[in-house]
Amino acid sequence: MLILGFESSCDETGVALVEWTGDAVPRLRAHALHSQIEMHQAYGGVVPELASRDHIRRVLPLTRSVLEQSDCSLSQVDVVAYTRGPGLAGALLVGSGVACALAAALKKPVLGIHHLEGHLLSPFLSADPPQFPFVALLVSGGHTQLMRVDAVGSYALLGESIDDAAGEAFDKSAKLLGLPYPGGPALARLAEQGDPSAFKLPRPLLHSGNLDFSFSGLKTAVLTQAKKLGEQLSARQADLAASTQAAIVEVLVKKSLAALAQTGLRRLVVAGGVGANRSLREQLNAACNKVGVRVHYPELDLCTDNGAMIAMAAAMRLQSGVAQPNNDYSFDVKPRWPLQQLAANPV
Ligand code: KG4
Ligand code: ZN
Repeated sequence: MLILGFESSCDETGVALVEWTGDAVPRLRAHALHSQIEMHQAYGGVVPELASRDHIRRVLPLTRSVLEQSDCSLSQVDVVAYTRGPGLAGALLVGSGVACALAAALKKPVLGIHHLEGHLLSPFLSADPPQFPFVALLVSGGHTQLMRVDAVGSYALLGESIDDAAGEAFDKSAKLLGLPYPGGPALARLAEQGDPSAFKLPRPLLHSGNLDFSFSGLKTAVLTQAKKLGEQLSARQADLAASTQAAIVEVLVKKSLAALAQTGLRRLVVAGGVGANRSLREQLNAACNKVGVRVHYPELDLCTDNGAMIAMAAAMRLQSGVAQPNNDYSFDVKPRWPLQQLAANPV
């Protein structure tokens, strides 16, 4: 079974081809990605209208590239999958429109996929895929969630951010430090040269007794510290970046361990853009090693948005029987779509 997947929820256009046979873990045949980072950089953030227009420009050349790389033709594709939400409405409409038009022309079925389920299942594309059940730490630009995952489509929310996501905390703090968009990777790079204990920053909700997160206070503390430093900020920028990263990472690591203790599960899966953070990986590995828990990550290039995770999620939903593809080519997108709703109402 060959699945062609489209991702266009934000500022990356991704297309991929995933193949599965019988019960074997689906495998990636090819993927192609275009990041709009450079285009949005001048504005300091994603401009939705520009994002949609760029998805239109990129999606077909990327599709051709995927077919060429995998030596496949469109007629061999069995199912077309696309990101149905959450994300920017206009950007989602491009991928959904192209996927449904293509499927209709090929007379092949379509399957709409939840973007976060794509992230959640992306570690199954790695050389060291996890096994169910596991605790998932989902850390993307817009979401920070701990979930109990028992099988494909069985996602129970254990805790989540009550305000900013961890990725947002990285991005907003980076902006306050004068770093270019996208702030997360830039802050992480700068932090490598700084002292993580230089500034005492808050660890919000660390001792709250539940598995929720809050990161908006951290951003305010970074702003206060930056103002206090005034002209000295440029000399202490790396220290402040390292201290900010340390605060975010410590909360993510401790809450993940608390989730593992609460559920009694021995496996942790990390997914989403912040999962590419080196310090988070090092500290999670060290902490989990101590308590005999295995940690799984997506390959570094599949941590941030991509088409491979969408094609993979579609393959795993079909393989497990959780979803059926359909021939209804009328589509709607879901810019706001909690993952728990997907678990209750499989599409
Ligand atoms: O999962 P993703 O690509 O997009 C969403 O679905 O939101 O995640 C993007 C987020 C951004 O906030 C970005 O700054 C952050 O992931 N990010 C990182 C790193 N790489 C990406 N944050 C910290 N360290 C990194 N190395
Ligand atoms: Zn994402």
